[in-house]
Amino acid sequence: MTATSAAAAAYVVAGLLFILSLAGLSKHETAKTGNAYGMAGMAVALLATIGLAADHGISGTGAALLVVAVVIGAAIGIWRARVVEMTGMPELIALLHSFVGLAAVLVGWNGYLSVEADLDAQTEVSSDLIGIHSAEVVIGVFIGAVTFTGSIVAFLKLSARIKSNPLMLPGRNRLNLGALALFAVLTVVFVVEPNLLVLSVVTVLALALGWHLVASIGGGDMPVVVSMLNSYSGWAAAASGFLLGNDLLIITGALVGSSGAYLSYIMCKAMNRSFLSVIAGGFGNEGSAASSDVDYGEHTEISAEETAELLRDAKSVVITPGYGMAVAQAQGAVADLTRRLTERGVEVRFGIHPVAGRLPGHMNVLLAEAKVPYDVVLEMDEINDDLAETSVVLVIGANDTVNPAAAEDPGSPIAGMPVLRVWEAERVVVFKRSMNTGYAGVQNPLFFRENSRMLFGDARERVEDILRAL
Ligand code: TAP
Repeated sequence: MTATSAAAAAYVVAGLLFILSLAGLSKHETAKTGNAYGMAGMAVALLATIGLAADHGISGTGAALLVVAVVIGAAIGIWRARVVEMTGMPELIALLHSFVGLAAVLVGWNGYLSVEADLDAQTEVSSDLIGIHSAEVVIGVFIGAVTFTGSIVAFLKLSARIKSNPLMLPGRNRLNLGALALFAVLTVVFVVEPNLLVLSVVTVLALALGWHLVASIGGGDMPVVVSMLNSYSGWAAAASGFLLGNDLLIITGALVGSSGAYLSYIMCKAMNRSFLSVIAGGFGNEGSAASSDVDYGEHTEISAEETAELLRDAKSVVITPGYGMAVAQAQGAVADLTRRLTERGVEVRFGIHPVAGRLPGHMNVLLAEAKVPYDVVLEMDEINDDLAETSVVLVIGANDTVNPAAAEDPGSPIAGMPVLRVWEAERVVVFKRSMNTGYAGVQNPLFFRENSRMLFGDARERVEDILRAL
């Protein structure tokens, strides 16, 4: 067997391992196994690629550089994965997507420059092949550059280095469509006559478009944007695969691209958003800006001891955790509270919003880590109808996901997003540190409702106070 056919066989094995990995990651019981398949697939792919490079007569320096790059990359990856906080995962993922985009841009430019060098050296290249190659170059560079800057903006927004409010340039939909039309024209020009100027213009245009697309998206839609950028990074990798003639990169890119697109679609459905609107940068989302200056009246505070009193008398309790539970690392205390109340005969269940926290499944992971039984952890749709018959809802560090404005105020920036209807319960206790808004920057009228009470302070400390008082 030649090295090339051995590498092709290894690529098939790696491709299968990636498919098994995706299947495993779809349920949290099998997620660890899914990760293991993914790591095994990547190890096979790396070994096969290095073997292939060696067979193609890579120089000693080339091989050394390859090994150094792999070692440095692996060391940085292991270090980041070990130190990253759970709450910092989405921004890390956005940053990693930007690297895939940048790699696709560099591969595209390299593809263009190496063909130019062949032509300069008078090497015979068929004009049909040059046309196909040029199309691969320009499309790869475009997708890569959009992914690169889009992911950088997502990283900046998710890490709160820039505001998450949408950038509302006048005529922004026309700007996006104009950029796409210009890209189509430039692609044709480049395929007919590849030249440096056109490729430079496409690169700058795509960098600006990626920036604008994600800057135009409001905080509430960021989860969909992260999975959409995941999809773009997959297509960017697939485009690089065509350019490099690497089948595994095409397969892997297509897997990431299509699974990311499907996840974006599912999330759009769950959040009642138009898929097209989100991938086109907030298309059709005119005129709604985040505001926190509406006067909703006075809020009423409650102490931990009074909350313990309420819980003692409650028949049923629903806990709706959000990002603040992750920040406070309150899941252990919340799990203890659940056990204590259950022992006292109170029915305790959890209501999980699909985008609570900062990454899909964030709350489920934290609660599983704290050993809360799966059967009391319900999805939003499973619990919403029961909230009206619930004695007490404890909103632990959640804000946007329990905001009644989404359901009741058509002018709200988060209008139409399905939320947990916690305000229908007999009594609601909101755990947070201040009256600040949540991720989307929208004030929450829940805090001012007659049946709502605010329990201020760090969520973990307040839950521990309640445990002491019980
Ligand atoms: P958010 O709307 O982000 O609100 C979190 C609340 O937690 C804040 O109001 C904050 O209020 C409170 N908080 C923070 N630290 C706290 C602490 N130590 N103790 C007590 N409270 C604390 O939360 P959510 O309801 O989970 O909504 C998630 C938001 O993130 C949505 O807008 C969603 O679209 C967006 N998002 C989600 C994802 C995914 S995939 N889940 C990804 C990106 C963005 P104080 O500052 O007053 O304490």
